[in-house]
Amino acid sequence: MRTHTIRENINRVSNNFKRSDLELCLMNCLKKNRSFLHIESSYKLTESEQSNFNSLLEKLDASIPLAYILGNQPFYNSNFFITPDVLIPRPETELIISEVLRAGDLLENHRNELRVLDAGTGSGCIGLSIAKERRDWMITLSDISNKASEVALKNMKRLNVKNCQILVSDWLHAFNNSIFDIIVSNPPYIDHSSNLVQEEVLKFEPHDALFSNNRGIEDIDQIIKSAKRVLKPGGYLIIENGYDQSNEVIRILRQEDYGDIKVLMDYNNISRFTSSRKK
Ligand SMILES: C[S@@+](CC[C@H](N)C(=O)[O-])C[C@H]1O[C@@H](n2cnc3c(N)ncnc32)[C@H](O)[C@@H]1O
Repeated sequence: MRTHTIRENINRVSNNFKRSDLELCLMNCLKKNRSFLHIESSYKLTESEQSNFNSLLEKLDASIPLAYILGNQPFYNSNFFITPDVLIPRPETELIISEVLRAGDLLENHRNELRVLDAGTGSGCIGLSIAKERRDWMITLSDISNKASEVALKNMKRLNVKNCQILVSDWLHAFNNSIFDIIVSNPPYIDHSSNLVQEEVLKFEPHDALFSNNRGIEDIDQIIKSAKRVLKPGGYLIIENGYDQSNEVIRILRQEDYGDIKVLMDYNNISRFTSSRKK
């Protein structure tokens, strides 16, 4: 097999792929960091490294998302193990972590053990990031998908997080009344007929994690209605929603008598999250 140096490998396909993707693939094959690629750019790959790299290129060429190719995705302060059974964590979702930490810190002054639920946890990226930031809080991660729960469990072990439990539940069905101080969720919220979803998202990411009935609002509606039972009085519901769903989410929250309703923007100044409190 013909092998190439790091520089040659990047240059010969740099018109077809993003340079950052090529670098991540090379870092993965060589088990080296980015600075090695720059400092040792004339290093010639071994046959097995080259064959590994070539097979990653074939997958990139088939438009498979890089996170599924490499099996991991950075989110907040950690690197998460990812399989096609879970949504690839999105950078805009990171903002929900700071909002949960802020709400929890306010509550903590008045309460003993703080309990947080991450409903629809997928890879566990939201709940585990919170658990790492606040080791004395107890975080429950739940998902309807067994396979997603296995991925979250693997991440919990990999990140050495102890203050977490994971269980399979259809939204909040598995939980007793008035047990959580905060419920956070990034549920599926895309309308089935939306034509804004990118082709590779549609082709490779799990549809149960993306789409919801009733113009994308059905799961959000269900969570808002059942969170009232499961939250403690004064507890927070912090939920991610679609770019055009804010008004509808506020309408349901008001109808269900939540207070302190607040809309939060994402990095692109889109109303992406809604925070509210059970009265
Ligand atoms: C948009 S993904 C979010 C995953 C992860 N929290 C994140 O932010 O990357 C939605 C998650 O909700 C889960 N889900 C869908 N329907 C559910 C239900 N009825 N009960 C619980 N979880 C559900 C999906 O399996 C998926 O993992």
